[in-house]
Amino acid sequence: MKALILSGGKGTRLRPLTYTGAKQLVPVANKPILWYGIEDIVAAGITDIGIIISPETGKEVQTKTGNGEQFGANITYILQEQPAGLAHAVKVAQPFLGDSPFIMYLGDNIIQSELATFLNTFKKQQLDALIMLRRVANPSAFGVAKIDENGRVLQLIEKPKDPPSNLALVGIYFFANTIHDAIANIQPSARGELEITDAIQKLIDREQKVEACTLEGWWLDTGKKDDLLEANRIILDTQITPSIQGEVDDKSQIIGRVQIGPGTKVVNSSIRGPVIIGNDCYLENCFIGPYSSIADGVTLIEADLEHSVILQKATIAGIHQRIVDSVIGQRAQLGVAPRRPKAIRFMIGDDCQIELA
Ligand code: TTP
Repeated sequence: MKALILSGGKGTRLRPLTYTGAKQLVPVANKPILWYGIEDIVAAGITDIGIIISPETGKEVQTKTGNGEQFGANITYILQEQPAGLAHAVKVAQPFLGDSPFIMYLGDNIIQSELATFLNTFKKQQLDALIMLRRVANPSAFGVAKIDENGRVLQLIEKPKDPPSNLALVGIYFFANTIHDAIANIQPSARGELEITDAIQKLIDREQKVEACTLEGWWLDTGKKDDLLEANRIILDTQITPSIQGEVDDKSQIIGRVQIGPGTKVVNSSIRGPVIIGNDCYLENCFIGPYSSIADGVTLIEADLEHSVILQKATIAGIHQRIVDSVIGQRAQLGVAPRRPKAIRFMIGDDCQIELA
């Protein structure tokens, strides 16, 4: 059994962050999204992992993630020249996959459940494909499955106006090698991509064995800002163990589950968990509220924030309004003009979103 993680794509919905970096490397609770998938796959006993990368962000993904040693895996990087669809990525990976069955994992998805149970079902029943479904409130925004009472998949429909069920297709799939022939026999969709849903539909039409299982735990697709904040909230809620390695002065107050990395200095500040703060940060006269993740090298002076993700080396100084539900990019600087404290000055990149309340 092998695994294929898709870490290419355009990432348009997470601009401007994805102008300068890979969406799969954006941190959730200070760990790249992609690494959650790698850890899940290794935990299920699969160590031969291929990662699809794009020409734009592939180097960064490769440099940061390495050869897999730190995860106990062996990682092969596979370049997809164009983001021509999920099924296209499988086509490009065929030399790596060979005849092996494999898990396909979208690099911006995170799930709560362990993969092992699903993997067992896939193997035991010798399926051609096992897909994962999750009940959602707004099925029209997803790929939706129509299934019979035995869990057999009858039809997959992309973003249906009139959904046949509320079961959305999760970005994790199990495939036998028969998927390659199905992909070889589909045409690009109206949006010009080779769709994995069309390839699975091809298997169904050929009466090959395609089944579905339903996820009960949470599933996060971090492709958009609010989903990213929600992923951050859930991971901080469930996976943070308190540990304070930096320096916290006597005037500061730490309440609840808070993790602070080495080299970080906290002066006259109040931090209310769950919160994670990376290495070598400096915080002075701040309030950091629940569900905040602060990456390495961040400077916060007279800042008040909660439910936000601050990326590496960003600086926030002298903003007295509470910053909420925000994602601040790497090296971004947010502050008031020192000589005119009521004025705000901007140098904002393309596609940024700023709301002044
Ligand atoms: P999507 O989120 O569907 O596509 P995208 O990354 O281009 O994002 P957006 O819609 O915001 O422009 O892709 C799901 C995952 O699969 C994501 O991790 C990127 C990856 N992917 C590839 O590796 N190759 C591809 O050809 C496509 C379409 C996606």
